Amino acid sequence: MMSKVSAVKKYYEDTQRYLSRRSFDIKVRAETVQSFVEKGKFARILDIGCGDGTISLQLLSKETSLTLLDISERMLWIARSRIPPEFSDNVEVVNDNLMNAQLETRPFDLIICIGVLAHTDSPTEFVARMVSLLKPGGTLILEFTDSFHFMGRFFRMVFAVWGLVRPIGWTLNFLSRGQVLKILGKHHLTTRAIYRYSLPLPGMHRFFSQATLYKLVRLVFGTPDHNRNAWMGNEYIVMLDKLAAQDSSSIPLK
Ligand SMILES: C[S@@+](CC[C@H](N)C(=O)[O-])C[C@H]1O[C@@H](n2cnc3c(N)ncnc32)[C@H](O)[C@@H]1O
Repeated sequence: MMSKVSAVKKYYEDTQRYLSRRSFDIKVRAETVQSFVEKGKFARILDIGCGDGTISLQLLSKETSLTLLDISERMLWIARSRIPPEFSDNVEVVNDNLMNAQLETRPFDLIICIGVLAHTDSPTEFVARMVSLLKPGGTLILEFTDSFHFMGRFFRMVFAVWGLVRPIGWTLNFLSRGQVLKILGKHHLTTRAIYRYSLPLPGMHRFFSQATLYKLVRLVFGTPDHNRNAWMGNEYIVMLDKLAAQDSSSIPLK
């Protein structure tokens, strides 16, 4: 039987299946990350499961170096083709599973991991690996889905029915917000910002353009600065700071 990582890789090698249906969501994610990091300075950035690179390539500058990591060769091919020529020396591209990748030489100031946790072998070990690569005082931007929120339960039900017709080939990690907070709580992290939203109903991409779906998300949930109706959102994008050892008892994770 194919391993989970191989099945995930195979799925995302068909890049357009994801990119053509979810460009509205990628835009929401990219804008959220941009808004979170606006006032920060991050010299070394790692984007785990970078997909087509939209989320992190926008953060490149002369002073920034970026590592794009993905198990999908084709996603990385797209991401690589989008690197602005003037920054090509600042970008490293790694085609590997985070759990095996050799990244220890220097810790990162900012790690972005969006849309990946649900696909991992062990979310606990995945988060531990990410945090180990982060500098004390560094920042982690993590996206996860609360599958036990009422919207999450609804999507799970649809997914279970749809899975009978078109199985994806591996079992998604259906995590609750509480489980993710427990995993994060094992590390010295403090929350700095949260944006919550929900995806439009399954199948809507067949009837509405990506631009309309984007407008719908913004209409209902607003922007990261003014997150309306957050209670209805089961998608979380959280910004967390890794505390230096001496701060470890001072700020609880919320
Ligand atoms: C849902 S897509 C998200 C892409 C991008 N972050 C975004 O939000 O548009 C998940 C991506 O993570 C990659 N991925 C999944 N598991 C991974 C792992 N263990 N290590 C590295 N990349 C992984 C997949 O190949 C895929 O490109």
